[in-house]
Amino acid sequence: MRRLNERVAIVTGGARGIGAAVARLFAAEGAAVVVADVLDAEGEKLAAELGGPARYAHLDVSTEDGWQTIVAETDRDLGPVSVLVNNAGILEWGTVEEQSLESFRRVIDVNVQGAWLGMRTAAPSLRRAGGGVIVNISSIAGLTGYAGIGAYVTSKWALRGLTKAAALELAPDGIRVCSVHPGAVRTAMTADFDDSFTAAQPLPRFGEPEEVARMVLFIATEATFSTGVEFVLDGGVTA
Ligand code: NAI
Repeated sequence: MRRLNERVAIVTGGARGIGAAVARLFAAEGAAVVVADVLDAEGEKLAAELGGPARYAHLDVSTEDGWQTIVAETDRDLGPVSVLVNNAGILEWGTVEEQSLESFRRVIDVNVQGAWLGMRTAAPSLRRAGGGVIVNISSIAGLTGYAGIGAYVTSKWALRGLTKAAALELAPDGIRVCSVHPGAVRTAMTADFDDSFTAAQPLPRFGEPEEVARMVLFIATEATFSTGVEFVLDGGVTA
Protein backbone atom coordinates (compact mmCIF):
# COMPACT_ATOMS: atom_id res chain seq x y z
CA MET A 1 0.00 0.00 0.00
CA ARG A 2 1.54 3.29 -1.08
CA ARG A 3 1.44 5.83 1.71
CA LEU A 4 0.33 8.90 -0.25
CA ASN A 5 -2.23 7.37 -2.60
CA GLU A 6 -4.81 9.92 -3.75
CA ARG A 7 -2.99 12.76 -1.98
CA VAL A 8 -2.14 15.97 -3.80
CA ALA A 9 1.15 17.60 -2.81
CA ILE A 10 2.88 20.86 -3.71
CA VAL A 11 6.65 20.88 -3.20
CA THR A 12 8.30 24.29 -3.57
CA GLY A 13 11.89 24.44 -4.71
CA GLY A 14 11.14 21.00 -6.05
CA ALA A 15 13.29 21.12 -9.18
CA ARG A 16 16.53 20.05 -7.51
CA GLY A 17 18.21 19.17 -4.23
CA ILE A 18 16.10 18.35 -1.19
CA GLY A 19 12.86 19.38 -2.92
CA ALA A 20 13.49 17.03 -5.84
CA ALA A 21 14.17 14.16 -3.42
CA VAL A 22 10.87 14.89 -1.68
CA ALA A 23 9.03 15.05 -5.02
CA ARG A 24 10.53 11.69 -6.11
CA LEU A 25 9.67 9.95 -2.84
CA PHE A 26 6.16 11.40 -2.71
CA ALA A 27 5.47 10.32 -6.31
CA ALA A 28 6.79 6.82 -5.54
CA GLU A 29 4.34 6.73 -2.63
CA GLY A 30 1.42 7.52 -4.93
CA ALA A 31 0.98 11.28 -4.52
CA ALA A 32 0.05 13.60 -7.36
CA VAL A 33 3.01 15.97 -7.04
CA VAL A 34 3.25 19.55 -8.24
CA VAL A 35 6.91 20.51 -8.53
CA ALA A 36 7.00 24.28 -8.04
CA ASP A 37 10.15 26.23 -8.78
CA VAL A 38 11.74 29.00 -10.82
CA LEU A 39 14.11 26.57 -12.58
CA ASP A 40 11.79 25.70 -15.46
CA ALA A 41 14.04 23.32 -17.43
CA GLU A 42 14.97 21.24 -14.36
CA GLY A 43 11.41 21.24 -13.08
CA GLU A 44 9.89 20.15 -16.41
CA LYS A 45 12.49 17.38 -16.69
CA LEU A 46 11.75 16.07 -13.21
CA ALA A 47 7.98 16.14 -13.74
CA ALA A 48 8.40 14.17 -16.97
CA GLU A 49 10.59 11.65 -15.12
CA LEU A 50 7.99 11.24 -12.37
CA GLY A 51 5.23 10.65 -14.94
CA GLY A 52 1.58 10.04 -14.03
CA PRO A 53 -0.20 13.07 -12.63
CA ALA A 54 3.06 14.84 -11.69
CA ARG A 55 3.48 18.30 -13.15
CA TYR A 56 5.78 21.27 -13.04
CA ALA A 57 4.51 24.76 -12.27
CA HIS A 58 6.57 27.93 -12.42
CA LEU A 59 6.28 29.64 -9.05
CA ASP A 60 8.29 32.40 -7.44
CA VAL A 61 7.26 31.70 -3.86
CA SER A 62 7.68 35.32 -2.85
CA THR A 63 4.76 36.39 -5.07
CA GLU A 64 1.15 36.41 -3.93
CA ASP A 65 -0.34 36.09 -7.42
CA GLY A 66 2.00 33.20 -8.16
CA TRP A 67 0.64 31.32 -5.16
CA GLN A 68 -2.96 32.11 -6.05
CA THR A 69 -2.45 30.71 -9.53
CA ILE A 70 -0.70 27.49 -8.50
CA VAL A 71 -3.18 26.65 -5.75
CA ALA A 72 -6.20 27.39 -8.00
CA GLU A 73 -4.79 25.33 -10.89
CA THR A 74 -3.82 22.44 -8.64
CA ASP A 75 -7.22 22.43 -6.99
CA ARG A 76 -8.97 22.51 -10.37
CA ASP A 77 -6.86 19.89 -12.14
CA LEU A 78 -5.77 17.47 -9.41
CA GLY A 79 -8.04 18.18 -6.46
CA PRO A 80 -7.53 19.87 -3.10
CA VAL A 81 -4.00 20.02 -1.74
CA SER A 82 -3.39 17.85 1.31
CA VAL A 83 0.39 18.16 1.66
CA LEU A 84 2.34 21.40 1.23
CA VAL A 85 6.13 21.31 1.53
CA ASN A 86 7.61 24.81 1.82
CA ASN A 87 11.14 23.90 0.81
CA ALA A 88 12.25 26.72 -1.54
CA GLY A 89 15.05 28.67 0.03
CA ILE A 90 18.13 30.74 -0.68
CA LEU A 91 21.37 31.33 1.21
CA GLU A 92 23.22 34.63 0.83
CA TRP A 93 26.39 35.42 2.72
CA GLY A 94 27.24 38.56 4.65
CA THR A 95 27.93 39.63 8.20
CA VAL A 96 25.40 41.86 9.94
CA GLU A 97 27.57 44.85 9.06
CA GLU A 98 28.38 43.86 5.51
CA GLN A 99 25.21 42.35 4.04
CA SER A 100 23.27 44.74 1.84
CA LEU A 101 19.66 45.61 2.58
CA GLU A 102 18.69 44.17 -0.83
CA SER A 103 20.33 40.85 0.01
CA PHE A 104 18.73 40.73 3.49
CA ARG A 105 15.31 41.41 1.97
CA ARG A 106 15.76 38.79 -0.77
CA VAL A 107 16.47 36.09 1.80
CA ILE A 108 13.48 37.06 3.95
CA ASP A 109 11.20 37.38 0.90
CA VAL A 110 11.93 33.85 -0.30
CA ASN A 111 12.52 31.95 2.93
CA VAL A 112 9.88 33.56 5.15
CA GLN A 113 7.37 35.46 3.03
CA GLY A 114 7.35 32.55 0.56
CA ALA A 115 6.32 30.02 3.17
CA TRP A 116 3.88 32.42 4.81
CA LEU A 117 2.16 33.10 1.48
CA GLY A 118 2.10 29.38 0.76
CA MET A 119 0.41 28.52 4.03
CA ARG A 120 -2.11 31.30 3.83
CA THR A 121 -3.00 30.60 0.19
CA ALA A 122 -3.13 26.81 0.45
CA ALA A 123 -4.90 26.55 3.83
CA PRO A 124 -8.43 26.73 2.34
CA SER A 125 -7.50 23.95 -0.10
CA LEU A 126 -6.12 21.79 2.75
CA ARG A 127 -9.37 22.41 4.62
CA ARG A 128 -11.36 21.28 1.56
CA ALA A 129 -9.20 18.14 1.48
CA GLY A 130 -10.49 17.38 4.98
CA GLY A 131 -7.18 18.24 6.62
CA GLY A 132 -3.55 17.67 5.81
CA VAL A 133 0.03 18.51 6.57
CA ILE A 134 2.34 21.46 6.00
CA VAL A 135 6.07 20.84 6.30
CA ASN A 136 8.35 23.88 6.44
CA ILE A 137 12.01 23.24 5.69
CA SER A 138 13.95 25.35 8.15
CA SER A 139 17.55 24.44 9.12
CA ILE A 140 19.76 23.98 12.14
CA ALA A 141 20.35 27.68 11.44
CA GLY A 142 16.82 27.99 12.87
CA LEU A 143 17.96 26.37 16.12
CA THR A 144 21.28 28.11 16.72
CA GLY A 145 23.38 31.00 15.38
CA TYR A 146 25.96 31.07 12.58
CA ALA A 147 28.34 33.93 11.82
CA GLY A 148 28.28 35.33 8.30
CA ILE A 149 24.74 34.29 7.35
CA GLY A 150 22.63 36.48 9.61
CA ALA A 151 19.77 36.96 7.13
CA TYR A 152 19.54 33.20 6.59
CA VAL A 153 19.63 32.52 10.35
CA THR A 154 16.91 35.15 10.84
CA SER A 155 14.79 33.58 8.11
CA LYS A 156 15.08 30.05 9.47
CA TRP A 157 14.23 31.08 13.06
CA ALA A 158 11.27 33.03 11.66
CA LEU A 159 10.07 29.99 9.74
CA ARG A 160 10.30 27.91 12.91
CA GLY A 161 8.17 30.44 14.81
CA LEU A 162 5.69 30.82 11.99
CA THR A 163 5.32 27.03 11.97
CA LYS A 164 4.20 27.09 15.60
CA ALA A 165 1.70 29.92 15.10
CA ALA A 166 0.20 28.22 12.05
CA ALA A 167 0.08 24.86 13.84
CA LEU A 168 -1.99 26.36 16.65
CA GLU A 169 -4.32 28.13 14.23
CA LEU A 170 -4.86 25.20 11.89
CA ALA A 171 -5.06 22.31 14.37
CA PRO A 172 -8.86 22.64 14.71
CA ASP A 173 -9.11 21.99 10.95
CA GLY A 174 -7.04 18.82 11.12
CA ILE A 175 -4.03 20.48 9.52
CA ARG A 176 -0.66 19.71 11.13
CA VAL A 177 2.30 22.04 10.61
CA CYS A 178 5.87 21.01 11.44
CA SER A 179 9.35 22.30 10.73
CA VAL A 180 12.34 20.28 9.57
CA HIS A 181 15.87 21.29 10.58
CA PRO A 182 18.60 19.68 8.47
CA GLY A 183 22.29 20.17 9.08
CA ALA A 184 24.63 20.23 6.10
CA VAL A 185 23.11 18.33 3.19
CA ARG A 186 24.88 17.66 -0.10
CA THR A 187 23.09 19.91 -2.66
CA ALA A 188 23.86 22.87 -4.92
CA MET A 189 23.48 25.11 -1.87
CA THR A 190 26.49 23.48 -0.21
CA ALA A 191 28.50 22.83 -3.39
CA ASP A 192 31.32 25.08 -2.14
CA PHE A 193 31.60 23.38 1.27
CA ASP A 194 34.37 20.79 1.46
CA ASP A 195 34.45 17.74 3.70
CA SER A 196 36.20 19.65 6.49
CA PHE A 197 32.87 21.40 7.09
CA THR A 198 31.37 18.23 8.55
CA ALA A 199 34.55 16.62 9.95
CA ALA A 200 33.93 17.67 13.57
CA GLN A 201 30.31 16.45 13.62
CA PRO A 202 29.41 13.38 15.76
CA LEU A 203 28.37 11.80 12.44
CA PRO A 204 31.14 13.31 10.27
CA ARG A 205 29.51 13.51 6.86
CA PHE A 206 27.02 15.48 4.80
CA GLY A 207 23.40 14.36 4.89
CA GLU A 208 21.77 13.23 1.67
CA PRO A 209 18.63 14.86 0.22
CA GLU A 210 16.91 11.46 0.39
CA GLU A 211 17.39 11.37 4.18
CA VAL A 212 15.52 14.66 4.48
CA ALA A 213 12.84 13.37 2.10
CA ARG A 214 12.28 10.31 4.28
CA MET A 215 11.75 12.52 7.31
CA VAL A 216 9.29 14.71 5.40
CA LEU A 217 7.38 11.57 4.36
CA PHE A 218 7.37 10.38 7.98
CA ILE A 219 5.89 13.71 9.11
CA ALA A 220 3.27 13.59 6.36
CA THR A 221 2.18 10.03 7.02
CA GLU A 222 3.25 8.66 10.40
CA ALA A 223 3.70 11.60 12.77
CA THR A 224 -0.05 11.92 13.29
CA PHE A 225 0.19 13.27 16.88
CA SER A 226 2.89 15.85 16.11
CA THR A 227 2.23 19.46 15.23
CA GLY A 228 4.09 22.72 15.79
CA VAL A 229 7.33 20.87 16.49
CA GLU A 230 10.86 20.62 15.15
CA PHE A 231 12.23 17.52 13.44
CA VAL A 232 16.04 17.65 13.45
CA LEU A 233 18.45 15.71 11.26
CA ASP A 234 21.93 17.08 11.62
CA GLY A 235 24.43 14.30 12.29
CA GLY A 236 24.41 15.22 15.97
CA VAL A 237 25.54 18.86 15.58
CA THR A 238 22.95 20.26 18.00
CA ALA A 239 23.05 17.29 20.40
P1 NAI B 1 19.00 24.04 -3.67
O1 NAI B 1 19.57 25.38 -3.95
O2 NAI B 1 19.53 22.85 -4.38
O3 NAI B 1 17.42 24.05 -3.88
C1 NAI B 1 16.64 25.16 -3.60
C2 NAI B 1 15.53 25.21 -4.63
O4 NAI B 1 14.69 26.32 -4.32
C3 NAI B 1 16.08 25.42 -6.05
O5 NAI B 1 15.47 24.52 -6.94
C4 NAI B 1 15.70 26.86 -6.33
O6 NAI B 1 15.50 27.13 -7.72
C5 NAI B 1 14.41 27.00 -5.53
N1 NAI B 1 14.08 28.40 -5.29
C6 NAI B 1 14.91 29.40 -4.90
N2 NAI B 1 14.25 30.55 -4.86
C7 NAI B 1 12.97 30.28 -5.23
C8 NAI B 1 11.80 31.08 -5.38
N3 NAI B 1 11.81 32.40 -5.15
N4 NAI B 1 10.65 30.47 -5.76
C9 NAI B 1 10.63 29.14 -5.99
N5 NAI B 1 11.70 28.33 -5.89
C10 NAI B 1 12.85 28.92 -5.51
O7 NAI B 1 19.15 23.88 -2.09
P2 NAI B 1 18.67 22.73 -1.08
O8 NAI B 1 19.82 22.43 -0.23
O9 NAI B 1 17.95 21.65 -1.76
O10 NAI B 1 17.64 23.59 -0.20
C11 NAI B 1 16.30 23.25 0.03
C12 NAI B 1 15.89 23.84 1.38
O11 NAI B 1 16.60 23.17 2.41
C13 NAI B 1 16.15 25.33 1.53
O12 NAI B 1 15.08 25.95 2.20
C14 NAI B 1 17.40 25.35 2.38
O13 NAI B 1 17.52 26.54 3.11
C15 NAI B 1 17.16 24.14 3.27
N6 NAI B 1 18.33 23.61 3.92
C16 NAI B 1 19.39 23.15 3.17
C17 NAI B 1 20.50 22.65 3.81
C18 NAI B 1 21.69 22.14 3.06
O14 NAI B 1 22.73 21.90 3.69
N7 NAI B 1 21.62 21.93 1.74
C19 NAI B 1 20.58 22.58 5.28
C20 NAI B 1 19.41 23.06 5.95
C21 NAI B 1 18.34 23.56 5.28
